[in-house]
Amino acid sequence: MRVGVLTGGGDCPGLNAVIRAVVRKGIKDYGYEFVGFRDGWRGPLEGDTMPLDISAVRGILPRGGTILGSSRTNLMKIDGGVERVKDNLAGLGVDALIAIGGEDTLGVARQLYDRDVKVVGVPKTIDNDLNATDYTFGFDTAVNISMEAIDRLHTTAESHHRALIVEVMGRHAGWIALHSGMAAGANVILIPERPFDIDEVVAHVESRFKTNYAPIIVVAEGAHPKDGQMELSTGEMDSFGHVRLGGIGQRLAEEIESRTGKEARSVVLGHVQRGGTPTAFDRVLATRLGANAIAAVNDKDFGKMVGLQGTDIVRVDLAAATDVLKTVPVERYEEAEVFFG
Ligand code: F6P
Repeated sequence: MRVGVLTGGGDCPGLNAVIRAVVRKGIKDYGYEFVGFRDGWRGPLEGDTMPLDISAVRGILPRGGTILGSSRTNLMKIDGGVERVKDNLAGLGVDALIAIGGEDTLGVARQLYDRDVKVVGVPKTIDNDLNATDYTFGFDTAVNISMEAIDRLHTTAESHHRALIVEVMGRHAGWIALHSGMAAGANVILIPERPFDIDEVVAHVESRFKTNYAPIIVVAEGAHPKDGQMELSTGEMDSFGHVRLGGIGQRLAEEIESRTGKEARSVVLGHVQRGGTPTAFDRVLATRLGANAIAAVNDKDFGKMVGLQGTDIVRVDLAAATDVLKTVPVERYEEAEVFFG
């Protein structure tokens, strides 16, 4: 059996750990051969491959990024894209594919499976917003990076008696903001699922200043105010139709400064959250998911995504994983709200 492997969408720490586990178990337990496809769906679309054997995966467990490269190529938007992928797979003698990605990459995997491509998905995203898995690898690393940054910002904010607004990633789901904000004792946490009231945010900031403690506001990039409260700018779209965000932190800083008369600055953590070495949790999760994905290929259990439920790795239909996003439930936000102000 020849198995192709690709990584699509935004990269995240732990991708290399998955690739290593897939290849190591696939060769040792099943005697498979592997082909690496470069840059997400662009690889099978253009037949762009790289060797993927034991020597290619040696030493990559702790390395961030992905040795295969990644892209946001949406082959469903390319005329004849599916046929080109099928022809290339046949020409390269690839019998099955392992697609490691988030909602977009796995959404394409699901559509390919409906068109007779043998594919198994592995959930990846720092956003933790894929359904049917309790956690995605990369999330724990991103939360730890953000928590450490917020810890550092606390001390400088206090020295200068200023409010600091920390913008973290999360277009549609506020998991990183919620977890890093709770872990680092944020004054307010703002997430996309819950439009915020700027008057309440300002009240929290003022009450924190009264106690001589400088406020830290953690805001997800996709958070937005209640209708009509503040104007926001919109950015360009990528090939999956997502708007490129960034800017809510700066807007909030301006608004808070003008309403409170206190200095407010914004810090955008950006791609720092996706870079560098994965935490132990993410390395273990990624390794287990990779090993289970190649086991699913060996069982001919295609059209599935492997995921974490409780402490078990399970297989679910790709459809169940990609139909709806896993957003932050109201109760989880309310747990954090107790500590605002
Ligand atoms: O999907 C992961 C993610 O990091 C999001 O949190 C973020 O909105 C997006 O990718 C940024 O994408 P890009 O790196 O393409 O700007």
